[in-house]
Amino acid sequence: MAKGIVIYYSRSGNTEKMARIIAEAMNDEGLDTDCKSVDKIKAQQLLDYDAIVMGSPTYYGHMASPIKQLIDDMVGFHGKLDGKVGGAFSSSANIGGGNETTIMGILEAFLIAGFVVQGDPQGDHYGPVSIGKPDDRVEKQCQRRGRRIAQLAKNLLS
Ligand SMILES: Cc1cc2nc3c(=O)[nH]c(=O)nc-3n(C[C@H](O)[C@H](O)[C@H](O)COP(=O)(O)O)c2cc1C
Repeated sequence: MAKGIVIYYSRSGNTEKMARIIAEAMNDEGLDTDCKSVDKIKAQQLLDYDAIVMGSPTYYGHMASPIKQLIDDMVGFHGKLDGKVGGAFSSSANIGGGNETTIMGILEAFLIAGFVVQGDPQGDHYGPVSIGKPDDRVEKQCQRRGRRIAQLAKNLLS
């Protein structure tokens, strides 16, 4: 059976809240999905999942170092993650504070690993973004993204 995971790093809870909403939507859409803090997962465990979503607060326009470390550790499994579905999201303090460059940094790494990444013509194009605490708009974007990732994973695996 197909499996998904949402991995996050979060110091003050904003990115974690987004992660939980995305994971719940993925489960609701029928993809059995775990939600884990980045310190609870090792790169090798990523092999067990069909859809992998990572979220980070924006730190100086980039992902936080624990997320980057997990991505760097993926090199031990290079080629084995090919074809997995990927997605990313970020929380920042400011509009224009670099949340989209953070998402793109994660997605660039995913593409190098061979992940399949879907954009969104209607919702947050690259992945859900929050300015500070997730509000109703962010909640809807996270739900939408979670549903779309689950649908894509199920379609690719059927
Ligand atoms: C080291 C550090 C760097 C940050 N850099 C940025 C930044 O470049 N742009 C921005 O808008 N917010 C920046 N922030 C703010 C966080 O991205 C923001 O508070 C985020 O919502 C925190 O997410 P969390 O609650 O999941 O920890 C930074 C915060 C820290 C601690």
